[in-house]
Amino acid sequence: MIRKYSYGVPYDTEAVVGAYEIGMDLPSWLTVEEEGRRFSCLLAEEEQVFGLGEQVRGMNKRGWRYVSWCSDDPYHLETARSLYGAHNFLMITSPDRTVGLFVEDPGRVTFDVGYTRRDRLTIETEGDGTALYLIEGGGPLEVAKMFRQLIGRSYIPPRWAFGYGQSRWSYFSAGEVKAVAEEYRKAGIPLDMIYLDIDYMESYKDFTVNGETFPDLGALAAELKEQGVRLVPIIDAGVKVEEGYPVYEEGVQKGYFCENEDGTPFTGAVWPGWVHFPDVLNPAARAWFGDWYRVLLDRGIEGFWNDMNEPAIFYSRARLDALEGERRDAVAAGKPAREALASLQEPVKQLSNRLEDYRSFWHNTPAGRLRHDKVHNLYGGSMTRAAGEAFVRYAPDKRLLLFSRSSYIGSHRYGGIWTGDNYSWWSHLLLNLKMMPGLNLCGFLYTGADLCGFGGDTTEDLMLRWMALGVFLPLMRNHSAMGTRRQELYRYPESRKAFGEMVKLRYRLLPYLYSEFMKAALRDELYARPLAFLFPEDPMAREVEDQLFIGESIMIAPVYTQNAGGRYVYLPERMKLVRFRTAETWEEEVLDKGHHYIPVALDEVVFFLREGHLVPLSDGGGCVEAVTADRLTLLAFGEGAAYEFYWDDGVGVDYEAPEHFKWLHAGTSGEVFHEYPGD
Ligand code: NOJ
Repeated sequence: MIRKYSYGVPYDTEAVVGAYEIGMDLPSWLTVEEEGRRFSCLLAEEEQVFGLGEQVRGMNKRGWRYVSWCSDDPYHLETARSLYGAHNFLMITSPDRTVGLFVEDPGRVTFDVGYTRRDRLTIETEGDGTALYLIEGGGPLEVAKMFRQLIGRSYIPPRWAFGYGQSRWSYFSAGEVKAVAEEYRKAGIPLDMIYLDIDYMESYKDFTVNGETFPDLGALAAELKEQGVRLVPIIDAGVKVEEGYPVYEEGVQKGYFCENEDGTPFTGAVWPGWVHFPDVLNPAARAWFGDWYRVLLDRGIEGFWNDMNEPAIFYSRARLDALEGERRDAVAAGKPAREALASLQEPVKQLSNRLEDYRSFWHNTPAGRLRHDKVHNLYGGSMTRAAGEAFVRYAPDKRLLLFSRSSYIGSHRYGGIWTGDNYSWWSHLLLNLKMMPGLNLCGFLYTGADLCGFGGDTTEDLMLRWMALGVFLPLMRNHSAMGTRRQELYRYPESRKAFGEMVKLRYRLLPYLYSEFMKAALRDELYARPLAFLFPEDPMAREVEDQLFIGESIMIAPVYTQNAGGRYVYLPERMKLVRFRTAETWEEEVLDKGHHYIPVALDEVVFFLREGHLVPLSDGGGCVEAVTADRLTLLAFGEGAAYEFYWDDGVGVDYEAPEHFKWLHAGTSGEVFHEYPGD
């Protein structure tokens, strides 16, 4: 059952699809104070709290205070309150009850999940109005599904977006991009995407291409596509202020940029220098900005990543002026240089992403002119929406790849997200796993982290372990920051073979991973499921934070500790351990329910298969389009194992056609054998 409550004058974020009657009687366990700005309830000792999407810490969010405030935070430390997304849904669950709470509010929202008091959840809002949705009925999987039905179907990318992608900040020229593709081919490692970071543009201007370094982007895209590789360029939120640059000139002329209070365009500084931000909360401006993607679509580009859209502001004019004031004061006071430096360092550190700046510009929204901080959390997701809506206008029958850094619940219908600037830290490998269920609960199915770590120097063993996790995640992209150690898989002669086998295994697993993704998207279900959701009565399973079910058949338990030769794994039931040394060969061992130490060599990928279930494997391929479902190897556990297999053309939008769904049955012996779907 879903009930809606309304306080003040809520802004319609369009997160919810369909209309709901406003309820009157709040359940007695929930307290509302401060005219609907504070909601609280007691948390029983055994109650767990899941959700909140892109956040630090555990799958179970208890024990910290999280703030929904889209933030460009490049560290993702345990002490972070906010990352790039604002995902205001959480679920309280125990064997006794499960309830979901969704706070529809586009401003800052604080979730104190047993932080101030261990036994209390307190949610505080700061805006002019909030709509609260309460969801009850059934266990965690049912409540999750009801919430997902409330917010509408998750974005579905083309199938090729489930291939492996290589990214770097930056590949600086067409030649460099071709060399990356060539090296992958020589190493025999499958590849589907090469990402272009900001340096493909001319002076970081959106929808331009640097004519010297990328003289013919269309030809490059076509040449790579012949090899099965798509080019995926980045688009940033800020539009460079530059006379003669059409995006800038048109935006100013039409009044489509965010405005200062006096109606002039607001100016901040990001990569291009001074920029204006398109007012993507204004439907007309959103359509206008979305249409610009055609510049690249017309050159054969089929996928994009949207960045810096919290929006990140390195500094503003006002912040620079304040700094200049500090400098003048320091000089006037005759401070010695060292003291002057110290007094200047603090304001320099505080130049970026300032609340004062977010309070200084305005949007023309359907609900009237609103100050940015009141609707801050909608900005990045609305940029995604701009592109997503334009793609539907431009190519209604075709799926395009789109994912964003910033997001809110609602923008999950238009694109996926990647989880931003993690580090090449072992703790961030684990964080990648832990974030998955929260993201899925909040509607983000096509998601993943920068594999092998974005910031800092990676290590070969971290890469191997992280790739062994990445094999199972929808967005499988290796990305790293400028100045860090290179992370292209072919650069590591000793591990090249192992990397290749892992990526090949991904392509062999594609029929399963893609089917599970599509079924999750089409049925509003989870792709990544915590053990607690499937075994709520098992106290051991409920506490597992470093394992996940991926779809219905398999559980993963990646190694995330340096120098470990394996790890302890908890099996909530009898399962079959499947160990891949190469993409071609594997070993199987049936293990009883309970704790097991599982040795896992650096070059191995291991998963656990549920009894009565199976995993269809393809013969693999050098790119996703080469993977067919004509012949599948069924990796099964138990007699009569059956599987609902989904396979379509991977690019069209006729998702529900009955011929895309087929049942696969294992042989009576439960042995591996080949089958043709439809037989
Ligand atoms: C920040 C993004 O998070 C990162 O992925 C990208 O490489 C840099 N911006 C440069 O564009």
